[in-house]
Amino acid sequence: MPIKVHGDGKEFHLYNHKVSYIMTILRNGQLGHLYYGKAIRDRESFGHMLEIRIRSMAPCFYEGDREFSMEHIKQEYPSYGHGDMRAPAYDILQTDGSHITEFVYESHRIYQGKPGLKGLPAAYAEDPKEASTLEIVLGDAWIRTKLVLTYTIYEDLPVITRSARFICDNEEGVVLNQAMSASVDLPDSGFEMVELTGAWARERSVKTRRLEHGIQSIYSMRGCSSNNYNPFLALKRPDAGECSGEVYGFSLVYSGNFLAQAEVDTYEVTRIMLGIHPHCFSWPMKKGEEFQTPEVVMVYSGEGLNGMSQTYHRLYRSRLARGPWRDKARPILINNWEATYFDFDEEKILRLARTAKDVGVELFVLDDGWFGHRDDSRSSLGDWYPNQAKLPDGVAGIARRIEAMGLKFGLWIEPEMVNKDSDLYKAHPDWMLSAPGRSVCHGRNQFVLDFSREEVVDHIYQMLIKVLDEAPVSYIKWDMNRCMSEVYSHCARPEEQGKVFHRYILGVYSLYEKLIGRYPHILFESCASGGARFDPGMLYYAPQCWTSDDTDAVERLKIQYGTSMVYPLSSMGTHVSAVPNHQVLRTTPLETRANVAYFGTFGYELDLNQLNGEELEKVRLQIAFMKENRELIQSGTFIRLISPFDGRGNVTAWMVVSGDRKKALIGYYRILEPVNEGYRKIRLSGLEEGMMYHVSIQGGGYHGGFKEMDVYGDELMNYGLMVSDSSSGDNKEKYDGTNGDYQSRIYILEA
Ligand code: DGJ
Repeated sequence: MPIKVHGDGKEFHLYNHKVSYIMTILRNGQLGHLYYGKAIRDRESFGHMLEIRIRSMAPCFYEGDREFSMEHIKQEYPSYGHGDMRAPAYDILQTDGSHITEFVYESHRIYQGKPGLKGLPAAYAEDPKEASTLEIVLGDAWIRTKLVLTYTIYEDLPVITRSARFICDNEEGVVLNQAMSASVDLPDSGFEMVELTGAWARERSVKTRRLEHGIQSIYSMRGCSSNNYNPFLALKRPDAGECSGEVYGFSLVYSGNFLAQAEVDTYEVTRIMLGIHPHCFSWPMKKGEEFQTPEVVMVYSGEGLNGMSQTYHRLYRSRLARGPWRDKARPILINNWEATYFDFDEEKILRLARTAKDVGVELFVLDDGWFGHRDDSRSSLGDWYPNQAKLPDGVAGIARRIEAMGLKFGLWIEPEMVNKDSDLYKAHPDWMLSAPGRSVCHGRNQFVLDFSREEVVDHIYQMLIKVLDEAPVSYIKWDMNRCMSEVYSHCARPEEQGKVFHRYILGVYSLYEKLIGRYPHILFESCASGGARFDPGMLYYAPQCWTSDDTDAVERLKIQYGTSMVYPLSSMGTHVSAVPNHQVLRTTPLETRANVAYFGTFGYELDLNQLNGEELEKVRLQIAFMKENRELIQSGTFIRLISPFDGRGNVTAWMVVSGDRKKALIGYYRILEPVNEGYRKIRLSGLEEGMMYHVSIQGGGYHGGFKEMDVYGDELMNYGLMVSDSSSGDNKEKYDGTNGDYQSRIYILEA
């Protein structure tokens, strides 16, 4: 078992062949941190790693001793009040007004496997042998409160997960005002912080900044994890790149308000902390009550950012996502949203479905507008029964007709929201989040239901199962189109209002869990105006997520590249849409739109009946190509090669390699046609050095004079793959489909 106890029962070493994590019980009983990084040899004691020196002016714990100061000791779950001047991991307000705590070691337990977290998403071990867990119980006798820190290390992955649980055994109770999921003190500050940032339609851009003294953080106080910042950060050494160098990844398995911060103190120690955002969080606990934080997944990579991402991909694809769809190739779908918006009736939908079936699509998704009397965004959210004007035979009628064509049927829902123009609002105006005496903001004309209340969640559940029990539904897209404001629950007491944000997310998770339990065959895709809730928490319930409302191929390069930092291709909803693109009005070739969308779950979101015969033929071939390659794409090893965020960003490249390395696909994208450019090669990665690969281009075509050839893996990884166009700057009288702006190619490598 890769968890050893040393140093007279005082030191804990979690390790496997890739990573080591070492901590110690300090002289004062609190938990200190010794090492986190590349695997080091196990030994009888690591006590010498504890750095303690006299430092002038430091607050010291023991009278007569000027060495032992919490200000300078690296800690596991730091507290406020005993000399540590950095940000604490938690805050407990006690009845006497004090915030000072002293959690000291009481016991520990080591076992095989990984426990689940009650009501919360978490990575899991399918076989107990895959992971080992250490639970350390600390107690504060004065306030009769316990703290359980849980660490799990996976046998074969450089992954350590962490969470914290508080248990109150105090008659008077305590108030938990902050409870981060994990805190790690790293011994130096020679790092860059990588974060995923953006906004609606430009989610998860990769941003890198040097760590500086003080606190640098990203966060969400929007009630969802948000499209502005993702609940993730990485620390990389300045010389680390995509394929080499040291990187630490931290990812929070949670879908609500979060804080992810790096604090560098003036002694160059870096403290990383992730968890629920403390703003508006306040959790009064009575005797016998517990509070469980969400989980943080920490990944160590000595092989650059790609190494970190590949670990997250493996874990999140196979030990966070659940259900029968986890390991299955995903159906190729058509979604009617950008084809019709709200303007459809059954006949229009069936016409689109017929063409879709004809070109090889497998699943038809009926998006927004099928319920209540919804014809625009102003009405009917909350009324989850069919719009009879559009669907005379209800959802069951259209679903059966679509199934009869040989397609599966999928449905859009937005269960957390309500419009004022709805039966639900008329019956239950107090079910909406809003504060007494205050006006309420709408977002896209809609308001947020109080999912912190069980009866609200249950009412929505009852409405949904009425539809889903009657109709053959194989897929659900669960949308959420605004962030939260006026977060106040009409049924919570004043002192309980600090629980509402977190309880809301627990309500969302519970509805997901109930629906998954009742309909295990349904494939769920989460969505929040595109990617505003693309987070690990959601992946536990919905193995795929609509990546962004921006479907333009050029914009999608950045969005998908950034998303891949943490999330596997099997989780990214990627569609080919119409041109001019509806978000940016750009016209890109049909080939390029597909070449980008292949690297995800793949589908179409346009009116296929507007395409001409030649275009439909191309769509048919694209679908055939995806069917042949989706298993490789969705479960192979994904490698980022050239970043759209680097330099001029004119070229992006990535690849996916099969487990046996016998097949690879390389996506190469060139935004603007360069003139008289120098030679360009891409050095590939992840291939078998001595294997001979046949290199071809999907769909054939001139592509600047490319000729099929056989090349060894080591040549492709060191010399590279030549991608230059011999025609660059010349011979441009005629567009031949493979020259001009917005071109791309899929290179196919076969052993
Ligand atoms: C936002 C989603 O991201 C879109 O794909 C679409 O489902 C609309 N909502 C529908 O209102």
